[in-house]
Amino acid sequence: MHLIEVLELDAGSGIPLETVGSAYTPQGSEQGDESSLDDSDYDDLFSDEDEDMRDLESDTDPEDDESVLDGVPPEVTIPQAQLDSILGQMAVIVPCKGEDPNTIEGVLSGIPRGCLIVLVSNSEGRAYRKEVMMLRKFCRHARPALAIHQSDAAAAAAFNMYGLPDLVTHVAGGSHKRIRNGKGEGMMLGIALVAALCPQRRYVAFVDADITVPGAVNEYCRAFAAGFALNPNPGTETMVRLRWASKPKVRNGEIDYTCEGRSSQVVNRWLNKLLSAMADADPTGSLAAARDSEIIVTGNAGEHAMTMDLALSLRLANGYAIEPFHFVELLDQLAPQNAAGGAAAAAAGGAHAGYNASGRVPNLQPVTIMQIRTRNPHFHRVTDDSHVRSMWASGLGSIYHHLPASLNSSTTQTPPQPQPQSLPPSPPSSSSSSSSSLTAFSSKSFARGEKLRGDILDFLADNHEENDNSKGELVHEPPRPRIYPPVRQLDLDGFREMVRSEHKTLYCLNLPHFKLPRPNTIAPVYHHQYGVTPPL
Ligand code: GDD
Ligand code: MG
Repeated sequence: MHLIEVLELDAGSGIPLETVGSAYTPQGSEQGDESSLDDSDYDDLFSDEDEDMRDLESDTDPEDDESVLDGVPPEVTIPQAQLDSILGQMAVIVPCKGEDPNTIEGVLSGIPRGCLIVLVSNSEGRAYRKEVMMLRKFCRHARPALAIHQSDAAAAAAFNMYGLPDLVTHVAGGSHKRIRNGKGEGMMLGIALVAALCPQRRYVAFVDADITVPGAVNEYCRAFAAGFALNPNPGTETMVRLRWASKPKVRNGEIDYTCEGRSSQVVNRWLNKLLSAMADADPTGSLAAARDSEIIVTGNAGEHAMTMDLALSLRLANGYAIEPFHFVELLDQLAPQNAAGGAAAAAAGGAHAGYNASGRVPNLQPVTIMQIRTRNPHFHRVTDDSHVRSMWASGLGSIYHHLPASLNSSTTQTPPQPQPQSLPPSPPSSSSSSSSSLTAFSSKSFARGEKLRGDILDFLADNHEENDNSKGELVHEPPRPRIYPPVRQLDLDGFREMVRSEHKTLYCLNLPHFKLPRPNTIAPVYHHQYGVTPPL
C-alpha cells in the first residue's frame, strides 16, 4: 500500500518508457541525452547563487520517495489505449441524494465515455423524476446508463428473497419494504445491479454526485484506471483509493486549499494507530514497516474503485462507515496473523453455504491497495460540523466495534508462521506451538486492542461537544456500524429476474442486451446509430 502521485494529467499517447539506472527516460525522446548526464553536469546548470536549488536537488533521492512502488517503475506513462481498455470495462456508480440535477450532470460529463454510468438515487420522489429526465437527456447520444431509486420495492424484495435481507427494511408507516437509507447501502445496490445486469464490467468505481468540478471527476476515473494498470501484483484483486490534492474551503472570502478533509484527518490517524497496534501484535514482523507510520492516507476515500470480484467479496458497512470499514475488514481478513483465525472461522461454517459464520467469503485472496494522489482540488457540497463529526465518529466506530481478530479477545488465535510479505493470507497453521505461548500471545494482543479502544474513548471524551448529548452519538462510544454480508451472497440470477419483471424505478438506457418488459426503457439507439454494440 503506497501513495502514488499523478505527475501529468495527460502524458500523451503513451510513450514507452525504458529504464536508465533508477530513472526512466522516454524512448526516442529528444531529451534522451539527459540519460548520460552525471552529477557534474548538473553542477554546471546552477550558479553559486542557486544554493536553494542545489539543496532541493540533493533532497530528492529516489530511494526516499514514498511513491516508489515495489515492482513499479518510479515514473511511468500508461498508454492511452490501456486506460481506454480499462475504462471500457468499468461501471461508475454515482450515489446521489438531493443534489441539483445540473450538478449531477456535471459529474456525469466528467465520466469517460467508455464507463457505464450507474445513478443510485435516494432523493425524494419528484427529485428522482428530474434526475432521470436529466439522465435521459444526457445519454441522448447513445450513452449507456442505469438508474434506480433506493426505495424501489422490487429491488428490496429481490434482496430480501435472494440472499441479502439485512439490506432491507420496512417503510415507516407503510406495508412495503425498501432498501435502507445510507450511502453505503446505495453503493451496495449499485454493485448488485451492475453484477446482475452487466456482468462483463470487471471494475466498479464510486464518485460522489455533489462534485462541482467535472474535470476533477474525469481525472478521478482515469486515476482509477491507472491504478488498475499499475497493480504490481497482477492477478490479485485491486482497490484504488484517491487522495485529493486539496479539499478547499472558503474562509473569510478566500479559498484555503487545505490538504486533508476534517473527517479524514481523524479517521486516517486512527486507522494508522490500528495498523500500528497490529504490527506490534504481529510476531512474524511482516507488518513492521507499518508501525507508527502514516501509511493510510485514504481512510475516507469516497472516490475509490475495485475489481468487481473484490466488491462482491467484501463485507460492507452502512452509510459513511463504508470506506473506513474497507481497511478494517481487509486488515482483519488478510493480515498475516489473522489469516489462521479467518480460516478457522471459515471452517466452522455458517448460515449460508460457502460463507463462514460471520457471513464472509472464506479465504479472501490477496488484495493490492493502491493509494493515488490526484491533481485537481476537490470541490463539493459544503457540509456542517455536525455532519463531519458524525462521519468521523462512524469511522472510529468501524475500528472500535470491529477490532481485527489479532487484537480481539473473542477470537481464538494460533500464532502464525513467519511470512515474507505484508498482507497476503497465510494457510491455516497447524498449531505446533505450546498452549502457554498461545495464551501469552493472545493476552498481549488483547491488551493492545483494549488500549486502542480506550484511547478512542478518551479521544471522544476530549472532543465532546454540547450538542453530542442531544444526538446521543459521541457521548460514550462511537456508533456501531451495521455490517452487511458480501454482495456475492446474493443469487444474482434471481435478483436480476425479479428486478427486471417487477421494477418500479429502474431505467436502462442504451443497453440493448438488457431489455425491460415495461416502460422505463428507452429505445437502444446505439447499434442503430453507430453500427456497433456497446460493452455490456
Ligand atoms: N444513494 C444514496 N443514498 N446516496 C447518498 C445517500 C443515500 O442515502 N446519502 C448520501 N448520498 C450521496 C450524496 O448525495 C453524495 O453524492 C455522496 O453520497 C456523498 O455524500 P455527502 O453527504 O456529500 O458526503 P460528504 O461529502 O460529507 O463525504 C464524502 O466524502 C467523504 C470523505 O471526505 C463521502 O463520499 C464520504 O463517504 C467520504 O468518506
Ligand atoms: Mg460531499
